[in-house]
Amino acid sequence: MISPAELQMAAQALRDGLLVAFPTETVYGLGANATDAAACTRIFEAKGRPLSDPLIVHVAPMQSHPSVTDPNAILEELGQSGVIDLEAIPTHTQIVLRRLIDACWPGPLTLLFPRGARIPLLITAGHEHVAVRMPAHRVAQQLIALAGVPVAAPSANRFGHTSPTTAQHVRDDLGDRVSIILDDGPTQIGIESSVLDALQWPPVLLRHGGVTRERIETIVGMAVRTSAHTEPGLQTGLAAPGMLEKHYAPNAKLIICNNPFDLRRELTVQGARGHKVGLLLTSAHQADFADDHTKYIVGNDHESMARNLYAGLRALDSAGSTVILALQVERTGLGAAIADRLQRAAA
Ligand code: TXA
Ligand code: MG
Repeated sequence: MISPAELQMAAQALRDGLLVAFPTETVYGLGANATDAAACTRIFEAKGRPLSDPLIVHVAPMQSHPSVTDPNAILEELGQSGVIDLEAIPTHTQIVLRRLIDACWPGPLTLLFPRGARIPLLITAGHEHVAVRMPAHRVAQQLIALAGVPVAAPSANRFGHTSPTTAQHVRDDLGDRVSIILDDGPTQIGIESSVLDALQWPPVLLRHGGVTRERIETIVGMAVRTSAHTEPGLQTGLAAPGMLEKHYAPNAKLIICNNPFDLRRELTVQGARGHKVGLLLTSAHQADFADDHTKYIVGNDHESMARNLYAGLRALDSAGSTVILALQVERTGLGAAIADRLQRAAA
């Protein structure tokens, strides 16, 4: 449990331009005052992240009336606080954004908006659009509200490494590069938010994540597109993080196998090469492999797999695995985001 005093201290640290790691429903974030370019520079330094990769700005539910969830009021407030440029959004696009906000905020959906005057270009990596999300986590919401500023936050890991789902993961990656780490236990969803560009029509899903493509399509009432960056393997040209072909990677080499038969064969091949092989398995396949293998069980349904994926990769790393074998995941529902992270971690 995080005490009110601890939260106050963390909020003050944010106002002072320092870095605070905090839990969200997806993964732990590395936060800084989004209106303070110098503070945000520290995020890039601490993570070793290139300045070409834009940051998500996190906002709390209505500063004035936290209980108000009216999407109109939320958009108005984002406009008035200078996070977004509301005037620059055409009316028909506002209707789509309101629907998405109504259905998914607070929650794991990040939306693009025309950048507001208070958001430094450093955050958007020079782009005219800013990514905004309202996390569905009590601690994140309280922290942002107490700080009284929007909070820029990438996942709190070293650049390119597996995202953190516990405070210990943050300590392991960033140590004393971060002033305060708010520890509220493991995160619920376990993989990052979906990133959607609904300024375009049809909207473009830039990153698979906590809100499924199917759900987004139901809300907007039509099929969304994906970009070359969304689907790795098709990628060309410049990329942003989370859209990089290689990302979310453990230290061990990750190999994705199409079926248990392939996995067993790979286990023999890699073992013969002298590798210490770790297995990332669903509970359904747990019994197929003897207990003398290093195993991490991620559960069976997509929800538990998402929740346990990053902890599993880190645990197998810590157990000294030099190769990790995992089974392919079906790309439906949350499975699309899990398969995406596996593929990038294996790239
Ligand atoms: O769940 C999450 O989104 C977590 C938690 C902490 O909120 N944050 C997170 O941030 O995953 P990060 O920096 O690791 O990933 C941000 C993603 C990247 O894919 C980035 O390219 C995209 O959001 N993004 C950020 N700003 C953007 C922009 N202006 N235009 C397009 N994509 C943007
Ligand atoms: Mg990240």
